Amino acid sequence: MIGLASAKVDEARLWRRHMDMAKLGATPKGGVRRLALDANDAKARALLLDWGRRRGFSAFIDPIANFFIRRDGTDRHADPVLSGSHTDTQPSGGRFDGIYGVLAAFEALEAIEDAGIRTRRPIELAVWTCEEGGAYLTGTMGSSVFVGARKLDDVLRLKGTDDAPITAAIAATRRAVSEAADRPLGFPISAFVEAHIEQGPELEAVGKTIGVVTVIQGCRRFFVEVDGEDGHAGTVKRSRRRDAFVSACDIAHALRRHFHDPDEIIRFTIGRFVVTPNAPAVIPGHVTFSIDFRHPDDGVLRRLGDAVADVCRAHQGACTASVREAVWAKPVELCGAIPDLIEATAGRLGLSHMRMLSGAGHDAMYIAQVAPVGMIFVPCEKGISHNEVENATPADLAAGARVLAEVLVELADRT
Ligand code: GLV
Ligand code: MN
Ligand code: MN
Repeated sequence: MIGLASAKVDEARLWRRHMDMAKLGATPKGGVRRLALDANDAKARALLLDWGRRRGFSAFIDPIANFFIRRDGTDRHADPVLSGSHTDTQPSGGRFDGIYGVLAAFEALEAIEDAGIRTRRPIELAVWTCEEGGAYLTGTMGSSVFVGARKLDDVLRLKGTDDAPITAAIAATRRAVSEAADRPLGFPISAFVEAHIEQGPELEAVGKTIGVVTVIQGCRRFFVEVDGEDGHAGTVKRSRRRDAFVSACDIAHALRRHFHDPDEIIRFTIGRFVVTPNAPAVIPGHVTFSIDFRHPDDGVLRRLGDAVADVCRAHQGACTASVREAVWAKPVELCGAIPDLIEATAGRLGLSHMRMLSGAGHDAMYIAQVAPVGMIFVPCEKGISHNEVENATPADLAAGARVLAEVLVELADRT
């Protein structure tokens, strides 16, 4: 049966679906701004529901608005094989991060259907809510809640950066796909495969088409609050100031030194920096900033991450710094049957491939806690991602979908 499903993968259809999705939140620079659970994110689910309905697939939604499109198998009671990723983007995101994994899964479902293949297990597309963090500053939200690594009740208390409750956004998202049947969190799944653009330059650099992910590096994320005192920019002497911006800058410099790595394995980013009240004539009394620290080695993550609060306090100056840890995702090793199957399938389809590490985080990190998992990477232009110019070729996207379709058929026939 090998080759039947992949032969039905339609490169033009897959590309067209990417362009249709890219209209939902399109930015003037050619990127996408579709924040988790915003109106466009809801429309993305509604579009998938509509496409799925036309093919006779059913749809489900869970309490955190994770969304599923199901193609039935012959055994109604078998746990499904899942494939998917996320529909949300970064605030100035591209057209492929996340949505590729969703659309590759949908393409695989269509190709399997077009090939007339019956599988024992159901195969389902999964959209995991709020992978990027969106307005809630909490990434991999849906997948982590699904596996029980985060409590649903804690997440339901969150408010967006605009102060709107997440519960309202979840309710609106659920209304947009009201035909989808309710489903509990954490139903059993037999396997999960996530396709994704690489988001780095390595496949392109060596001219390979398929990346077989073996490790997703770990990530610790912190939010630092620096409390000082608002004051008049014209009247308060330097020695009397408690300028939160000045302290935050000193802390940031110290953190750069703390995370300096001549081998460039460490990834350290301050991506969010909010100065309050943010007025030219006011000494800022408050700063919040984020720290995103990644490494493939759990020991390094532990050692350097555990020292963050001390570094911040040592350089707080006249202000007070406090640190809250929001994410501690350990490195995840993907090994065993599914990566082997991805590799063998790429080989059988004549696609060049290599094993590789994922620098980016993915929902697969959490789903790996409850099921065997694999990831399929395809190249993205110049390795650029989390950027409006993010790009990939229709041929590479289709190649990844071909591998995915074959892998899903194989997994769905396994006992
Ligand atoms: C998600 O895109 C991440 O790597 O943080
Ligand atoms: Mn992603
Ligand atoms: Mn991303």
